[in-house]
Amino acid sequence: MSDEFLSQFSTVKQRRDRVGDLMAKILQKKQTLQGIRNPIPINLEIGCGHGHWLTDYAQQNQTSTYVGVDLITKRIEKAQAKATKRFLENLFFLKVEASEFIEYLPSDFIIDQIYIMFPDPWPKNRHFKRRLIQDDFLQLLAKVSSPESLLFFRSDHLPYVEWTREKIQQSENWEIVDQQLPFEHSSYFQDLLPSHQSIVAHVIHNPC
Ligand SMILES: C[S@@+](CC[C@H](N)C(=O)[O-])C[C@H]1O[C@@H](n2cnc3c(N)ncnc32)[C@H](O)[C@@H]1O
Repeated sequence: MSDEFLSQFSTVKQRRDRVGDLMAKILQKKQTLQGIRNPIPINLEIGCGHGHWLTDYAQQNQTSTYVGVDLITKRIEKAQAKATKRFLENLFFLKVEASEFIEYLPSDFIIDQIYIMFPDPWPKNRHFKRRLIQDDFLQLLAKVSSPESLLFFRSDHLPYVEWTREKIQQSENWEIVDQQLPFEHSSYFQDLLPSHQSIVAHVIHNPC
């Protein structure tokens, strides 16, 4: 994350509060609706970029709540502008590192669906540790997921697809299922890339 951002939000408390503020806003909107469930299910896109894919998806499903997170300020600003222009009340964007968002998510919320579309592949061996899909990250995601949670992963980079498949197969918390992405629509990167593969996984909450 940029130095400017980190100097503005340098403490864990400040960064936790940012997540808390956004979620309080969502909670307030939801509480005005009848039949609110607790915990409240949200759908999360990690690394949403300019928000193309999530904005179109959220527009088609206005009874569900969507949150897009990304590290890059400009991308989040563009994504938010799209949501505002279309008056979408069910779509929220936040500049935040994905693990921090998940760790700081208030217990009023659970994550129903997680989308990871064209994550940075970090192709060099020495950079594999920077890949988003790691054992700890899969475990962290499972902790905030609902019993029906699904994780949708899509990439053009076949070694990263294989890496993800292996990590999920080795995970006690997720199992690969034969399902499709819930919404077929190009993301910004999907349009730029020649081909891709997808993996869908279902959470296992009480591994034996
Ligand atoms: C290759 S782009 C894909 C953007 C979008 N999903 C698409 O398909 O067009 C990957 C995005 O992931 C974001 N990103 C990478 N690591 C992240 C992290 N730990 N937390 C949040 N966003 C992250 C990057 O800033 C970048 O915008």
